[in-house]
Amino acid sequence: MRITILPGDGVGPEVCGQAVYVLNEIAAAFGIQMDTEVQLIGGAAIKETGSPFPSATKLSCESSDAVLLGAVGDPVFDHLQPSERPEIGLLGLRKALGGFANLRPAAAVPALIDSSPLRREIFEGTDLLIVRELLGGLYFGQPRGFVVGSDEAFNTMRYTAAEVERVARVAFDAARRRRKKLTSVDKANVLETSQLWRKAVENVGREYPDVELDHLFVDACAMHLVTDPKRFDVILTENLFGDILSDEAAVLTGSLGMLASATIGGSVDLYEPVHGSAPDIAGKNVANPLGAIASAAMLLRYSAQNEPAASAVEAAISQVLDEGYRTADIAGSSDSKIVGTNEMGRLVAERALSAIKTNTASSAA
Ligand code: NAD
Ligand code: IPM
Ligand code: MN
Repeated sequence: MRITILPGDGVGPEVCGQAVYVLNEIAAAFGIQMDTEVQLIGGAAIKETGSPFPSATKLSCESSDAVLLGAVGDPVFDHLQPSERPEIGLLGLRKALGGFANLRPAAAVPALIDSSPLRREIFEGTDLLIVRELLGGLYFGQPRGFVVGSDEAFNTMRYTAAEVERVARVAFDAARRRRKKLTSVDKANVLETSQLWRKAVENVGREYPDVELDHLFVDACAMHLVTDPKRFDVILTENLFGDILSDEAAVLTGSLGMLASATIGGSVDLYEPVHGSAPDIAGKNVANPLGAIASAAMLLRYSAQNEPAASAVEAAISQVLDEGYRTADIAGSSDSKIVGTNEMGRLVAERALSAIKTNTASSAA
């Protein structure tokens, strides 16, 4: 497999480094041939080439089997307008690859139950999947911009039924493989795009009579996510709502640093943790790499189509947490063993490799 690696900015290179380390180790153990190529994106790319999404990066990604990204965003570019910032590099990448369904799983982690600000009985056992539409809505709707010579600016929220239907199919398929419940989240009491969204989702829903469909307004969903998260199985929502709700859902997992994502449906699938470049903790070897490593596990599942390899990484993450190892963001109780970004990555790889060895030995016996 050819994988393009885009470390990006801030903690991106730190967490991505560990994800690539784990990926290489596990791929080798499973005999998956993997060639990686590192390219620039975001602020790092602006500094080097003047562009947040250079053509060399685009070419490499387009000819890859999968892309693994760290994060983009650098405060030195905060004074720039959106079209010139590092973040536009990520939007350019998403558009170029064409993936429209961004899968963001969020499950309560047993080992971290007591380090959450939420009460155990509220969220223990939560296991949900946010399916975020990734190529439409306010992020890409035209027209957008500043009105020249005035203090006015505008963005356009725009969807076609076809755009909604294709992402809805991904969400219904996912629900079918899970607990068969889909909650579509919109703002149909106010927005025309949401009324179109709701109708298109209902239409697709008729093809999935075995999946229970309900609808929630996004404001109410934000509240239910932290008061009754166990009511959710799959949440389907538009681009900006999904961005916001997924950061909120991170609270259920213990930290934003825990959340992984996969973007599917385009020519090349894209894997990235949900968090950003975290400039406040960058360069200190303290960032949590588990979201990035779990994104690499999703790459093994969807792009390499190697479920045992993906499960080995996920089981190793659970084991390391069960053993009490924590990065600072999930430190919780005083008896935990605080480790840095690099050590956390090494621990996950080590536990995964030794489980693979044990399994191979027992199946040979
Ligand atoms: P952020 O996700 O970078 O950080 C929010 C908070 O979570 C911070 O306190 C940070 O320290 C913490 N955090 C994030 N990742 C962590 C990790 N792996 N381990 C431990 N703690 C972690 O969001 P922000 O501060 O709002 O944005 C910073 C920059 O990142 C901005 O430029 C923004 O545009 C960009 N951003 C990029 C992405 C992406 O590349 N996918 C996502 C979100 C934000
Ligand atoms: C995310 C980020 C991005 C988004 C930004 C950096 C463009 O917040 O991946 O969640 O809004 O999609
Ligand atoms: Mn976000």
